Formats: sequence, structure tokens, C-alpha cells
Amino acid sequence: MKRLYYGLICLCFNANWLLADIVQYDPAVIEDAHLRTPGLIKKYGYNFEEHKVDTKDGFRLTLHRIAKPGAQPVLLVHGLEDSSSAWVMTGSGRGLGYLLSDRGYDVWLMNCRGNRYSRKHRKFHIYQRQFWDFSFHEIGIYDLPATIDYVLALSKGHAQLHYVGHSQGTTAAFVLGAEKPAYMKKIKLMQALAPVAYFEYLEMPLLRALAPYMPSIVRLLQGLGINELPPETEVWRELSYKYCSLAFPNTCANLIMQLVGIDLEQVNITLTPIILGQYPAGSSVKSVSHYSQQVLSGGFYKYDYESPYMNWQEYGTITPPAYKLANVNCKVALFYGQNDLLVAVKDVQRLRKELPNVVHDEKLAYKKFNHIDFLTAIDVKELLYNSMFQVMEKVDKGEL
Ligand SMILES: *[C@@H]1O[C@H](CO)[C@@H](O)[C@H](O)[C@H]1NC(C)=O
Repeated sequence: MKRLYYGLICLCFNANWLLADIVQYDPAVIEDAHLRTPGLIKKYGYNFEEHKVDTKDGFRLTLHRIAKPGAQPVLLVHGLEDSSSAWVMTGSGRGLGYLLSDRGYDVWLMNCRGNRYSRKHRKFHIYQRQFWDFSFHEIGIYDLPATIDYVLALSKGHAQLHYVGHSQGTTAAFVLGAEKPAYMKKIKLMQALAPVAYFEYLEMPLLRALAPYMPSIVRLLQGLGINELPPETEVWRELSYKYCSLAFPNTCANLIMQLVGIDLEQVNITLTPIILGQYPAGSSVKSVSHYSQQVLSGGFYKYDYESPYMNWQEYGTITPPAYKLANVNCKVALFYGQNDLLVAVKDVQRLRKELPNVVHDEKLAYKKFNHIDFLTAIDVKELLYNSMFQVMEKVDKGEL
């Protein structure tokens, strides 16, 4: 708890300090904050398509595409509370989605169940508890296989796709490999940005402080009928957007950095309203709960129902089993920052030892690289993407 208080004090102090300068926004930036992924991609002049993918358990996902039919497909999978816009919101010449398209790839942007684009289910409505009964586990065993099969079916001449995941987008891929190893043959290279399997050394004070209370918090929220986080995502985002863009953009940029790692050099304050216009995009209470179980256990286990009886019913054991990372045998490239409060270097090193086929392991040289620099750093192309392109090309040429 002590660390939480320090965090809060520190935050208020910084907030006051930053209030001094208030930015006047250019209307073009404000427009991007209100556009959704389709609008953004069209605005920047790319060939946009929208596709629907049905999962085995009844979800209907929206898949966005920067289309180059016939080219090598690459699937980009966003992090927790994020969406397809993560890869395009910083604009052409900067967003990874555009840069990959410029390099000749057929780019597919996933939207995991529960986010603003993927809120349809065959049987359940978003106001029903059953809709939100998922974490990265279900994203890994249902959303990813359905999407990969869909993309490959539309990619004649390509038996494999490139996979790029950020944060939860890596966790879900590890779950896929552990649970459905046959899918690893369909992935040419898995590039894991800020990879998360272990949370043993997680540094973010807020999450560390809250983790022990999470089971009670989750029960309380569920008792109140709240299964989505944040509840009423669209309303919440509208409020945070107004507060952050119209009143306190610097304070908000600072607040975000308190959560992900401080990196003043690489933060583009102009992007604050855009980020807040796109994020959070919605996810389940159970997703957050599953992650906090990892913080507490230090391991990479399936969901713990916190009842030996329910675990037994689900898994045949009284505690949840660990995911078998040894099954994740496709080529994997790891990229991680040294200033990422959510992904500790030590946790990635442990993960690396358990993955059987790591072909590239890069602790990013820029020391202040944090959790969202993977998407929004001013120099992200030079600091990260160029290296990713090289690894991809080597794999494409059969050199790696
Ligand atoms: C910051 O983001 C805005 C909006 O996308 C862009 O116009 C500007 O060039 C960016 N600044 C830098 C230094 O990259």
C-alpha cells in the first residue's frame, strides 16, 4: 500500500507542475481522435476493408484490413483494452500498420472479443454476464484460431502468416501455442512486443498494490452486475477524452506515463487526445482478474476459479494447470523495453528460456523505452520497427 500512496502523491505533484502549459490543438488532430479505425485508414489514403469472423463459441469479431490481396499476410494483435486503431492512430509514416503496408504486406488488424468493434455474440448481449466470461485464454483458444484460419483462407499461395502482438496480443498467442500447437505451423514468425507470460517482477505500483485485493474487487464488481471494464466504455472514454484533450492534456500524458513508464523524450503530447479517443476500447473484468492472478502466483496458469471444486470441474485438478510454453514452437522474436513498468526484463528472460524456438531476442537499446512506446514513441521506427522489418525479411528469405 505504501508504494501506492507514493505513486499517488508523485502523480499529483507532477500534475500540478505540468498544468502550467496547455496545448492548443490543431483541428486535424481532434478529427483523428474521433475517427475509428476504418475512418483513419481511409483518411490516410490506404485500401481499407472490413471483415467479420465467427468464433467457435459464438462471438462475431470485426477484422480490419489494409488490403494488398495476394501479398504476404501479417496479423497485428492489440493489447488489453486496446483495438485495431493501436496500429494506425499515429498516422501514415508512423503507425506500424501503414509501414508494413508500405513494405508490401497484406495487413490484418484484429479486434479481440469485447472491444468496441467486436461486441456481438450469437446468443448473448453485452448486458449479459455470459458475454464477458472471458480473458486472454478465450482470445487465445477461440479468437486467434478463427482469425488465422480466416486470413489464410483469403491468402492464396501463403500457408503461413506473420504475427505481431503487443502485450495481451502476445499472451493470447502463447495461450494459442500452448493449447493448440497445430496452429504454430501457420505462423511464419511471431513477433512479441512487450511479451507477457510472467508477471513475477511486475513493477507498476498500482497493480502490485491492488493484486491481493483483486479477488474481492472482482466479486464486488460482479455482485454489482459490472462485468465490463471500464463499465460503459463509450461513456468513460468520452469523459476522459474531454478532460484530457480540452483541459489537461499534459497531466493526462503524465498520468499515462506513471502507469507505463516515464519517457518524456519520446512522448508526443499532440497524440494525447488521439490516444484517449481510441483507448480504452473495452474488455472484461475477468481479463484483468486473470492478469492479477499472474501477479500473485508468479506463474503462467489458466484461470483460477478460487474454489477447488470449480477448478476440479473445469480442469480435473484443484489448482489451475500451467500453460505449456514448450508447445509454442513457431519462430519467436522478442522485443522489450528496459523502462516498461508492465513487462520486467527478468520476466522476459524467464519466458525466453522456456520458449523452444526464439530466433531473435532484443532488449531495446533506448533505455527509457516503455509500454506504449511500442505504438506511440516519436522515433519508434528507428528504435524498434526497422529492426522488426529486418527480422521479418530474413525469415521471408529463409535466412533465419
Ligand atoms: C506528433 O503527432 C502529430 C499528430 O499525429 C504529428 O502531426 C506530429 O508530427 C508528431 N510529432 C512528432 C515530433 O513526431
